[in-house]
Amino acid sequence: MSNIQFRDLQRQYDYIKDAIDANISNVIKSAHFISGPEVRELENTLASYVGVKHCISCANGTDAISIALMAHGVGTGDAVFVPDFTFFSSGECPAAIGATPVFVDVDPATYNIAASSLISSVEKVISEGQLTPKAVVAVDLFGQPFDVSSIRPICEKYNLLLLEDAAQGFGGSYTDEQGQKHMACSLGDIATTSFFPAKPLGCYGDGGAIFTNDDNIALLCRSIAVHGKDTQNLDDPNAKYNNIRLGMNSRLDTLQAGVLLGKFPVFKDEELEKVNHVASLYSEFLKDVNGLIIPVVNEGMYSSWAQYTVQLSEGADRSAIQKKLKADGIPTNIYYIKPMHLQGAFSGTRSAEADCPNTERLCSTVLCLPIHPYLSDSEVQFIAEKLRAAL
Ligand SMILES: Cc1ncc(COP(=O)(O)O)c(C=O)c1O
Repeated sequence: MSNIQFRDLQRQYDYIKDAIDANISNVIKSAHFISGPEVRELENTLASYVGVKHCISCANGTDAISIALMAHGVGTGDAVFVPDFTFFSSGECPAAIGATPVFVDVDPATYNIAASSLISSVEKVISEGQLTPKAVVAVDLFGQPFDVSSIRPICEKYNLLLLEDAAQGFGGSYTDEQGQKHMACSLGDIATTSFFPAKPLGCYGDGGAIFTNDDNIALLCRSIAVHGKDTQNLDDPNAKYNNIRLGMNSRLDTLQAGVLLGKFPVFKDEELEKVNHVASLYSEFLKDVNGLIIPVVNEGMYSSWAQYTVQLSEGADRSAIQKKLKADGIPTNIYYIKPMHLQGAFSGTRSAEADCPNTERLCSTVLCLPIHPYLSDSEVQFIAEKLRAAL
């Protein structure tokens, strides 16, 4: 079996080449490289897909988190609760604007922030009396939405901003007990996503977006993303030279918007279903492999499968298994190798104090297998068989 990619962007391009090429060529012909009409068209398309009033595009998913927190006035003296098992940005952004990330353990079955650990972390911060509990960054890790029905009431009780970091979760959804479906990026008070190429909906460079129903917060985000420009006259081309607050330069360029508009119809109509098929096939092949834990998608949740992540048994030699799979032409990755609270950047700070045994175990046992909508059934079977043999 040859040419198995961890995430196959070439096969995707071959499938949707005409739409992508046409959109790229139109942007080049128009020479409207920054803030061209495709950017607003994309924002409107994604806002209506997600079911929120505003989508504000920006340069990447990291900036999206920072802008969202800045718009809510999060800063020095504030505690922001972040899962210990996530990509660095989720905790880097609160720290970069002066707040203190407080790392919270995750549910080992779903990999997402655990309600009981969140409560104890918030209570601990309150009892220490040093920081003001301000926000939760709830990550939709590996594509599965965070546990909305248990995390939202905690945020309400402690008056915490609920920021959904849906960098990996775009396209996923949560159906509540009344049977109402809510798309990822609509599950927090504000939500952010990333269009990094390997993400469920990825562009051909860096890109990101913020989603909110709050008109005022949306205006603030638009202002912060363009050097704190005047929010009263956003469509005035001179507004960006009237800077009423400190912001940043964080725009999604028109070419990336064109690429995303080209990909979006296939993403929503075909790719989500195909990637869910791949995930269920993996789970079918791997469900009774001794010592292997397969990912769990909770009732009511629909994952966009940014990753298919299994857990090996604690004593397993993970790097030997990776080497064997590599020799069979199967690329694997480890997300994530280190708990956030043990990252050197937080060493010696309050953020390094965390009690996260689940995360510590996951970091030494997880293994991510290739997953994307263009993986064939026979490739999935081949990977599953080789993994079984390697174990
Ligand atoms: C959970 C999470 N949050 C934030 C980001 C940051 O996105 P970007 O790479 O677009 O800055 C990522 C990217 O990997 C991520 O996985």
